[in-house]
Amino acid sequence: MNENIYNQISSIYSHLMRFIDYEMWANYIYKISKQLNKKNIYTLELASGNCKLAYHINKKFKFYVASDLSKYMLLNGSPKVKNKICCNFLNLPIKIKFDFIFSCFDSVNYLTTKNKFLKMLSEVDSILNDDGIFTFDVSMENNSLKYQKYLNRKGIYNNIKYEQISRYNSIRKVHQNKFLLEFKDGTKIEETHIQKIYSYEEYFEMISKSNFYVSMCYEAFSFKDANPNSERIQFVLKKRNQNANIQSCGF
Ligand SMILES: C[S@@+](CC[C@H](N)C(=O)[O-])C[C@H]1O[C@@H](n2cnc3c(N)ncnc32)[C@H](O)[C@@H]1O
Repeated sequence: MNENIYNQISSIYSHLMRFIDYEMWANYIYKISKQLNKKNIYTLELASGNCKLAYHINKKFKFYVASDLSKYMLLNGSPKVKNKICCNFLNLPIKIKFDFIFSCFDSVNYLTTKNKFLKMLSEVDSILNDDGIFTFDVSMENNSLKYQKYLNRKGIYNNIKYEQISRYNSIRKVHQNKFLLEFKDGTKIEETHIQKIYSYEEYFEMISKSNFYVSMCYEAFSFKDANPNSERIQFVLKKRNQNANIQSCGF
């Protein structure tokens, strides 16, 4: 994992994401949190980026912490989100427990090996209450195939010239986004993001090796069951030690 990913992109990230409806996304995540059937929920957001989603929901929870690997993403984020931690979700430096942990917008696709995915689950397991929920979305192959062409773009924002080159490798199941930035003083920066596109079956197989089971797996932004052709999937995981070996969806 390149520890510096998103550091440069943070300066244009809100512009790149200007068409994303974070309020709708936040409401969807909030509805999932209702499955806890609990008040005074302690929530942790992993890979929160510049806290656009947190801005819309952090007040709805008793205690909310946003976290991200990139301190520049967090610093460029909303000051209305008070609790922010710069950390890697593969090594969480957190000692308290949460009821609800989530990550959104493909962040889990940055886990490029199955071992890393399992390590992230194990880190989350260690700070999630036994009756808690961990939910995250993943981008699937059909999403890469459908939207790749729209991710090849260029423009200027805040005097920064940028170009994004997006390629999906269907053999290696890897989606690469290369960003070329040119700042006003002529400095040029290149940042490359690599995301692994696992299959539906691979997610179930990996999760079955963890202390979690798949409580629900939805077509993202809906409460309909996902399937192997879904473009984006929302996984809702619960701890196995609560209801051993239950998988209500898929396998
Ligand atoms: C596509 S952005 C999504 C950001 C935010 N969730 C949103 O919806 O705009 C992916 C985010 O994942 C973060 N990230 C990638 N790998 C990470 C890791 N190992 N630990 C924590 N954050 C990570 C990046 O810094 C980046 O902010």
